[in-house]
Amino acid sequence: MNWFYRIYHFALKCIVIFIGIPNPKLHQGKQGLSDAIAALGLQKGDPVLVVTDQALLKLNLHQVVEDALKQAGLVSHYYADILPNPTVENVENGLAAYQQHQCKGIISLGGGSVLDSGKLIGARAVKPNKRVTQLKGLFKVLKRLPPNIAIPTTAGTGSETTVAAVVNDPARNSKYAATDFCLVPHHAVLLPELTTSMPANITATTAIDALTHAIEALLSINCLKFSRERALNACRAIFEYLPKAQQDPFDVTARGQLLLASHYAGQAFTRTSVGYVHAISHQLSARYGTPHGLANAVLLMPVLTWYGDRINQQLALIARHCGLTSLDYPVERQADDLLNHIQALLHDLQIQTRLNEVLPHDAAHLAELALKEAHPDYPVPHFMDPYACQRIIKEIATAS
Ligand SMILES: [Fe+2]
Repeated sequence: MNWFYRIYHFALKCIVIFIGIPNPKLHQGKQGLSDAIAALGLQKGDPVLVVTDQALLKLNLHQVVEDALKQAGLVSHYYADILPNPTVENVENGLAAYQQHQCKGIISLGGGSVLDSGKLIGARAVKPNKRVTQLKGLFKVLKRLPPNIAIPTTAGTGSETTVAAVVNDPARNSKYAATDFCLVPHHAVLLPELTTSMPANITATTAIDALTHAIEALLSINCLKFSRERALNACRAIFEYLPKAQQDPFDVTARGQLLLASHYAGQAFTRTSVGYVHAISHQLSARYGTPHGLANAVLLMPVLTWYGDRINQQLALIARHCGLTSLDYPVERQADDLLNHIQALLHDLQIQTRLNEVLPHDAAHLAELALKEAHPDYPVPHFMDPYACQRIIKEIATAS
């Protein structure tokens, strides 16, 4: 089957090369938010739907958006019931609010779940006759969404620049993604002040999620120049600024750099796909409810170690770019220097090495599901067999 997988990966690469994935226009800071709102091209008095969640409303993080909309003469309406694992019902209710108020644009403010929901509400607005389930898979929207802005309040998912939106469908007991170039938001606004209230453990695990996006993008055999540059810069920023943000949560420079790193890593992996860390972590989140960033943080070292010498070149490249090694060292030593640095970082962040909830006797089934997700979709540099995958899952299970 490996040759079939590689043909599939080559086809994915051709899509990225010949069709190209759009980037959102990037804005930073409060002036950037005003610029993005102006660029929506709406008339004074036009209604705009702000998609967010209750936690952000309670923290009053929406005020900056409210002020900017008022200043631009636009009228805000809120749909603020997005759940941490957003559902089809969330999207439908958001669409109902959009239609009821005859909104002309969408501003999504929140973590990945809110940003993904905003994308799907926009998709439903331009595809009113298609149910959310009919948007599942590749290129089911194929229509420009209403003018929209994505404002991330966590520095991890990169959803403000990616082509995918994930939704839970409790009626079908499933979770699926819609993937389409038109789901890339038109504008992304990075506001570091919005992330200073994030607890240290969430800052850590979301940043490691972004680091994983960057590393898995660099490992992908479909990693081209643009993705490589973005991923390398994301790694460097995370290694430099994550410890600073941990030391001082109000360090706005560090927060801004982490947001930018998450954005760059998002741009990279949306072109290359992710890899086995994500393939396994998705199964742990689905089976045990393990938070995505934490699952990735626990799995990152076991998966990189499993690759062994096969990824020395890529790891050494990261180590050199991030100044974590000496240019005089052989590649193997440079790769080791990166692995040691990641291990030390995870230790300093007090990230656990095992997950209590993972049961060793689930390993075979979880491995089967993980490899089903990875093959053929993820252009990994080397294929993992079910036994190796099971070993990794057992390794991070407490009772193993
Ligand atoms: Fe992720």
